[in-house]
This record gives sequence, structure tokens and C-alpha cells, in this order.
Amino acid sequence: MLCLGVETSCDETAIALVEDGRKIRSNLILSQIDKHQKFGGVVPELAARCHLEVISRLTAEALQEAEVAPEAIDLVAATYGPGLIGGLLVGLSLAKALSLAWKVPFVGVNHVEGHIYANFLAHRDLEPPLICLTVSGGHTQLVLMPEHGRYELLGQTRDDAAGEAFDKVARVLGLGYPGGPRVDRLAKTGQPTLTLVQHDALAGTYDFSFSGLKTAVVNLVHNLEQKGEPIPVADVAASFQRQVVTILMDRTFRALEENNVKTLALSGGVAANSELRARFAAEAEARGVKLYYPPLALCTDNAAMIAACGYFQWLREGASPLALAANPRLRFEPPLVGADKNSL
Ligand code: KG4
Ligand code: ZN
Repeated sequence: MLCLGVETSCDETAIALVEDGRKIRSNLILSQIDKHQKFGGVVPELAARCHLEVISRLTAEALQEAEVAPEAIDLVAATYGPGLIGGLLVGLSLAKALSLAWKVPFVGVNHVEGHIYANFLAHRDLEPPLICLTVSGGHTQLVLMPEHGRYELLGQTRDDAAGEAFDKVARVLGLGYPGGPRVDRLAKTGQPTLTLVQHDALAGTYDFSFSGLKTAVVNLVHNLEQKGEPIPVADVAASFQRQVVTILMDRTFRALEENNVKTLALSGGVAANSELRARFAAEAEARGVKLYYPPLALCTDNAAMIAACGYFQWLREGASPLALAANPRLRFEPPLVGADKNSL
């Protein structure tokens, strides 16, 4: 079964073709980063216009690269939220139009659930039950997944998403946008010796908070600036990153132990972070946990993950109505349905 995936929720226009939810036939991503860079962040209206300009051409290219004729496509899946409304509308309208023109079912996919499915593309042997930590620019959440399509939200951020904190810290340090990869690179040259926050106020819970850490960096930088002292940017980056990863590890490995789960998947743009990957890998090995994460290109926004997620959703639930509306604030908090987690 061949699924065409469409992703336009933020600043990447992406089209992919995926076979049976696991095999990538083509995966094209056009980043708009150069268009937004001078504004220091994504400008929603500009993003929507850019999606509109390139999406038809990109769709044709994705078919060409996979050497597939439109008649060979069985399913069309698109992100319908969360994200920026203008962009969502562009992708969703395209997917609905193709579904009508090609007479194939349409499936609306939750972007955050899509990130989890990047792991199923990268690792064909991966099967639930598992725990997934999704860390992106918009989300930080820890989810128990007993089987395909069933989730229990264990914890989430109470304020900023991890990626959002990386981006803001990068801005304060004058590193520019997008911040995550730049903090990651700079941190390699610094020492993580600064204590930015003393207490982990949410210790013992599965929830996250990153705004205190971010504010600590802002205050530190402002104080040094006022005193006319140099800012040890590399040390600040390394210390900030060290603490973010420590918090993420604490919740995640406690959740694995307390729920007696031995498989961990990471997803979202921040899962590309080199310190995060190295420390999670070492801890997983020490605890006998199998760790999965997607390659860098599948960590950040892409349409292959949407096609994969859409395929598994279609198997379970069938098509979505063509009247499905874009939902910028779509939540990902489905309750656990059916058997309880004791059946894991
Ligand atoms: O998943 P994603 O592409 O988009 C959302 O759905 O939000 O994630 C983007 C986020 C940005 O905040 C970016 O700074 C962060 O992922 N990111 C990183 C790294 N690469 C991307 N954060 C830390 N280290 C990285 N290497
Ligand atoms: Zn994303």
C-alpha cells in the first residue's frame, strides 16, 4: 500500500511516498529557513505563502523520484494540526484535492503522533510496547504506547518545549535561528560547569519545565552585559544543554522502570542533539533498555513520518472525513483505550 504524505505545519514543505508504513520511496523536504532567518523566527503568513508556491512542484518531484504514477497511490495523509493555521490549510487542501482527484482515501494526521512514527520508518523491527519521548520545537512529552494507535500521556512540559528553550537561549547568546543545532555545536567547545538552576521543582513527576532554566540564562547574560564582562557563551551553552538532557533523562528512565517497559524511542527535532543521544545511549545500555531514534533527517519535520502514521491510522480507523478541519491547537492526549497498561 503506497501512501503519499504531506507536511506543512511549520516552516518545512514536505512530501513523501511510503510503502506499507515502513519503507520510504521518496522523502522531499524544502526548508524555508533562509526566508525566516532575518526575522529571528518563523513568520506564519510568509510560511503559508512559501508552502503554496512550492507544494505542487514538490509533489510532482516526489512521484518522479519514487518512479511512481499517480494511479499507483492508495492513500493520502496530511498533518491537520497542531501547527500554524495558514500552512496547515495549504497541506490539508492539497491532500483533500488529491484524494478526490485520485479517488483514494484521505487521512488527517496529528503532527506529534507523526514524530513517533519516524521511529517505525527507521527501524523495521520496532514494535510497541514502548515509551516515546518526543522533544521538538513545540512539544515535550513522554508517552506510553502499548500498541499502534494507543497512547497514555505520562508527562509533558508545563511551560516551554525543550526546542523552544534551545531556540530562546541561542537567541540570547547571539547564535541566531534555528538555535538548537547551534547550541549543540557550541556546547562541544565549552565546559558544563555553571549551575543555572538549583532545584528541579518537578522532580518526582513525569512533567518538565524549562522556562526557569531559560530565564536563568537570560539573567546571567544580562548581568554580565551590565557589568561589561565577557559572556562565556560556550560554557553557558554546555551548561544549559547538560541540564536539559539531565531533566529529560530523569523522567524518561524513571518512566521506563516504573512502567516496566524495556523499549525507548526518541523523536522530534531535539532528538538530533548529540549530547542527548550519547547520554541516552549510555544509560539505556547500562539499564538493558533498547533505544531507538530516527536518523537526523527523520527527527526534524518531514512528510515520511506523516505517511507512516497515516497508514497505520488508516489500518485501524479507516479514512478521515473530507470535512476534517485544520486544528492549530490540536492536542495529543488520547486516553488509553481498551486493556489497561498492566497487560503490557
Ligand atoms: O521537530 P521539529 O523539527 O519541529 C517541531 O515540530 O517543533 O523540531 C525543531 C526544534 C527546534 O527548536 C530546533 O532548535 C530543535 O528542534 N533542534 C535541536 C537540534 N536540532 C534541532 N535542538 C537541540 N539540538 C539539536 N541538535
Ligand atoms: Zn515537528
